[in-house]
Amino acid sequence: MAKERGYRSRAAFKLQQMNNKYHLIHRGSKVVDVGAAPGGWLQIASELVGVVGLVIGVDLDPIKNVSKNTRVIQGDITDQNTLDKILGELAGDRADCVLADLSPKLSGIWDIDHFKQIDLCMKVMDLMPVMLKRGGSSVMKAFHGDELRNLTSRMRKSFDRVEISKPNASRKESSEVYIVGIGFSGQTPRQSIGGSEAEQQFEEHSDSVVSDW
Ligand SMILES: C[S@@+](CC[C@H](N)C(=O)[O-])C[C@H]1O[C@@H](n2cnc3c(N)ncnc32)[C@H](O)[C@@H]1O
Repeated sequence: MAKERGYRSRAAFKLQQMNNKYHLIHRGSKVVDVGAAPGGWLQIASELVGVVGLVIGVDLDPIKNVSKNTRVIQGDITDQNTLDKILGELAGDRADCVLADLSPKLSGIWDIDHFKQIDLCMKVMDLMPVMLKRGGSSVMKAFHGDELRNLTSRMRKSFDRVEISKPNASRKESSEVYIVGIGFSGQTPRQSIGGSEAEQQFEEHSDSVVSDW
């Protein structure tokens, strides 16, 4: 279906479905899309922001530009150089929405891949205060596993509302979920290890409430 509709990846439909539900990207929005290659989300975001908006796609791999309202940056999101380029494109402003559909190179050993993937999300969380507007929103892909709770906990401390979502376009058997954050506080707490027992129990309970739609 992605091919038929001219989208570069089936991932495009996941963003479309999440935006229909959460209304994260609007006409005129500025969006930073991290882990953007080959560009399916970039295409959807470009359509949603329209000619007056801007979408900045970032990836280790080269991305063919999509449209006049999109910019592409080849680089590692963990490099200062890449951040400087993103901030250059934002020209003194901050984004209304940060998307992160990041996947590290997979080793096939789930624990290692899960840890690396969550670590990438944590790096994006570190950058939120400089990239994302107060009140802005975010969507992050996360691999299931023990570290997921630390990421959702950090998101909950940074956004007014956090939901864990699995859009229909995401294969049922895949171990990925999307964490949607709405109403950014402007700050992210430092990455903490552990947390109080009560806090962990709360996180365990709330992480099991995955809306499948
Ligand atoms: C699932 S793909 C993204 C698909 C994309 N959302 C789309 O709609 O076409 C994950 C991407 O994360 C990128 N990635 C992994 N680590 C990265 C890093 N440190 N910095 C930038 N991009 C990274 C990979 O190169 C890969 O292209």
